Amino acid sequence: MSATAKKRTPLPEDIIARKGGAPIVSLTCYTTPMAQIMDAHVDFVLVGDSVGMVLHGLASTIEVTMDMMILHGKAVARGLSSTMMVVDMPFGTYEESPQTAFRNAARLMQETGAGAVKLEGGVGMAETIRFLVQRGIPVMAHIGLTPQSINTLGGYKVQGRGETADALVADARAVAEAGAFSVVLEKVPAALADRITAEVAIPTIGIGASAGCDGQILVVDDMLGLFTAFKAKFVKRFATLGADAEAAIADYARAVTAREFPGPEHIFADAVPGETR
Ligand code: KIV
Repeated sequence: MSATAKKRTPLPEDIIARKGGAPIVSLTCYTTPMAQIMDAHVDFVLVGDSVGMVLHGLASTIEVTMDMMILHGKAVARGLSSTMMVVDMPFGTYEESPQTAFRNAARLMQETGAGAVKLEGGVGMAETIRFLVQRGIPVMAHIGLTPQSINTLGGYKVQGRGETADALVADARAVAEAGAFSVVLEKVPAALADRITAEVAIPTIGIGASAGCDGQILVVDDMLGLFTAFKAKFVKRFATLGADAEAAIADYARAVTAREFPGPEHIFADAVPGETR
């Protein structure tokens, strides 16, 4: 996709239309400058609840709040002009009842300008997805490894191996039939991801799934090498910005200590006509 090819913000229906076509490109995003960088290159951004671990140093996504999602959603929206924004519903804001989910999803959309919300769960969330979609809220589902459930899943394990494969297919079918416009498949065997992609009518967005999915997503700080606390097998580092930042900061500290910085080009004379910055 070229920067000039993009003219307007895609809608969920544009994402659905990509089923079986050119792969859908997506990344998580949490800040205005990163949104400005991504705007010309991705089909949608996800303000993921991974923000809690990546930017706030939390141990899991379970502590992430509505206020955090709204703060980051607003920041990302300011940086986008042609890309759809999806915002994650945080843990505890949608599981209790479809009505609670509607109130919180509506608030996320009203206060951030998101075009859709994402929530975790399959068969058990189908009724809620249907309730939201029937009331005007586009929903992206998320099945397989659902990080908000690590305490019941027993950690960040691959999901859907062996006898549990059919249950994951049932989850995918249930969210598609409930009206989700796409489904994230996280950390599932590649053959199972391919089977789900073939069996459901909505696009599958893989993370640790298969190159055969209808699209891919990664956590941006993982793929840029900014988040280095750990690296999942499914992460490919496309840059080493964390190491680059550390080298730059060490160089700054050296230059300040040696009184090399600021140099003559960084300091101000008493008065320079026309100088503005
Ligand atoms: O919060 C997140 O970053 C996500 C992606 C991993 C899909 O849900």
